[in-house]
Amino acid sequence: MTYQVMYNQNDQMVTFTGCMRPQTQEELLEVNKTLAMAAEKAMGMLYLNFNRLEFINNMAFHEVMKHIGLIINAKPKLTIKIIISSVIPWSEKKMTWIKQFYDRISIEQYDNNFYPGQEVIENDHFIPVLRTQTKIIWAQEKKLLAEHGLKKGMSVADICCGVGDFISLVYQEFNPSQIIGIDHSKPNLNYARRIAEDNGLSDKLKYHYGDAGNLFFIRDNEFDFVTCRLSLQIFDKPELILKELHRICKPGGKIYLTNETYSKTLGYPQSEIISRTYEEASKMFKFLGMDLEFGPKMNSYLQDAHLKDIRIDPMMITTDSTSREDFKVVVESWRDYICNDLAIANKKDETYRKELTQGFNSHIRAIESKRGFASWPIWVASGTKS
Ligand SMILES: C[S@@+](CC[C@H](N)C(=O)[O-])C[C@H]1O[C@@H](n2cnc3c(N)ncnc32)[C@H](O)[C@@H]1O
Repeated sequence: MTYQVMYNQNDQMVTFTGCMRPQTQEELLEVNKTLAMAAEKAMGMLYLNFNRLEFINNMAFHEVMKHIGLIINAKPKLTIKIIISSVIPWSEKKMTWIKQFYDRISIEQYDNNFYPGQEVIENDHFIPVLRTQTKIIWAQEKKLLAEHGLKKGMSVADICCGVGDFISLVYQEFNPSQIIGIDHSKPNLNYARRIAEDNGLSDKLKYHYGDAGNLFFIRDNEFDFVTCRLSLQIFDKPELILKELHRICKPGGKIYLTNETYSKTLGYPQSEIISRTYEEASKMFKFLGMDLEFGPKMNSYLQDAHLKDIRIDPMMITTDSTSREDFKVVVESWRDYICNDLAIANKKDETYRKELTQGFNSHIRAIESKRGFASWPIWVASGTKS
């Protein structure tokens, strides 16, 4: 893989992509030309974006550094913003090193704060939610995966894989030729790797730290079956994630999604307080830019992504379809997470949080009661890449 360097005059941004490993100065002509043009044209702020540059060798790094120096000296009014990503291990160290020589350089880590709910979703308090959910979903999802085209021996990528329970179960049930999980939460990935190791599967289940919106380390058309479960709903621009899922999927391969209508989680008795609780929870997710009502929107999004053979199925988790004890543990994990982390991020006061806790407790009682009933609606969608 080689590199590309492009200047976009509208954004005043030079974007570096690929792997920059030149062996001769001639291979750097494009960098020289582009940076010289950017230096000549840019006014105010010039952006140098490295968040898609996977590798850089010393020769290329010194060339870039030389140009930064030239630009800073030639244009006393220009400032430079360098954009890096935590997914690119070299970038922070090297760019911070350059910054110490110049006042007019600033560094922005683009994936530090790239959507409003990031902190709440990526911290380790979310782990119990993910672990318990997969447990009650799997019995139904296993059948739906097969109906949506997952076959033994396929290559599978699970984007936003969380703590990895899903890829572990897929591995055991479908014996894929290759399976990887990508997530942007280090606590989740550490957890996933530990479980894989405990189960003796660390050489089979591969986990990578990455950003679903920028999977530059995966080639085009690489996987037969690309999954993204309960996750498009957390992004404010789901179409950008879908574009990456489409890119890494083979022609003829499948993209498989699940998303919820969380506000329609129900229970009886005390139906009203239970419904109000989930409507409130959904509103709090919305406040942080997440759309937990995304399920029914998948058809439109999959059509816009030009997928064929779109299929949507309900996956209703109920007190009949799963063990009441397991369902109760899920709702307890929701209660603890939503009434604390999420409510605090929403700046809700103590009274509100207590009432919400009571709402979840009512749902738990509905699950425990032999005469009670509870349900959690999820939607499963897939489409084929032409
Ligand atoms: C609701 S969880 C779903 C996890 C898993 N698919 C499951 O069903 O258990 C969303 C996941 O997306 C991950 N995530 C958030 N932003 C991401 C990004 N930009 N790239 C990759 N993963 C991301 C979070 O760390 C979290 O594990």
